Amino acid sequence: MPDTTNRLKDMKNKSWFDTRSRDPYYRRAKKEGYRSRAAYKLEQLDSKYRILKRGSSVIDLGAAPGGWLQYASRKVGAKGTVLGVDKKEIEPLPASNVATLRADITDPSTIEKIRKQVDQADVLLVDLSPNVSGVWEVDVARQVELNLSALGVAERVLRKGGKMALKIFEGKDSWRIKTALESSFSRVNLFKPPASRKKSSEIYAICEGFGVLSVSANSS
Ligand SMILES: C[S@@+](CC[C@H](N)C(=O)[O-])C[C@H]1O[C@@H](n2cnc3c(N)ncnc32)[C@H](O)[C@@H]1O
Repeated sequence: MPDTTNRLKDMKNKSWFDTRSRDPYYRRAKKEGYRSRAAYKLEQLDSKYRILKRGSSVIDLGAAPGGWLQYASRKVGAKGTVLGVDKKEIEPLPASNVATLRADITDPSTIEKIRKQVDQADVLLVDLSPNVSGVWEVDVARQVELNLSALGVAERVLRKGGKMALKIFEGKDSWRIKTALESSFSRVNLFKPPASRKKSSEIYAICEGFGVLSVSANSS
């Protein structure tokens, strides 16, 4: 590889590391033992919308490396359970209420694997991101497909009246998942938590009342 290309790559890496080490949520996650800064996004969604309760049964799709799992495990407590699913290996967590499953949620056989571990869930957490191509609209379309697969999981395991928090990449195709959510839940709120980077075009949908009619959508 030519020298100038290597130098440009080194500069890009350095600026990425500098930005990350200045990020307050990254530093806080290191200090507080969270596996990812994403844990604070869930904490902020949960404190605004009260998603997780003691004793709840939770499924977390796209769970690696496990920041959301750590937060959810603490919130549901010893009487609750959390199942983390990811196509990547999730390093085991030292919490007796957490189980993990390595599986691709777009594979139709994954739903049965999930159902072997959880018959009915109270809450579905979805923080799926595709492998990014660098072309935003392509990534949005891929993420919509992942979210539609997650909704397929909801249809099989989420209890009537259950809740879901789901990440959406905002773009040309994101209406497809928003419309699907609005027809499956009685209430859909859109919220960007402060821990979500301003320059990122992600937003979270907090959905309540699964399978209960009366459609409404709010943004805040
Ligand atoms: C942003 S990360 C999730 C971070 C996680 N919420 C946390 O707190 O650590 C997105 C995850 O989605 C997973 N993912 C992407 N496509 C998937 C698929 N088809 N099946 C299962 N997991 C997938 C990725 O492997 C990645 O770990």
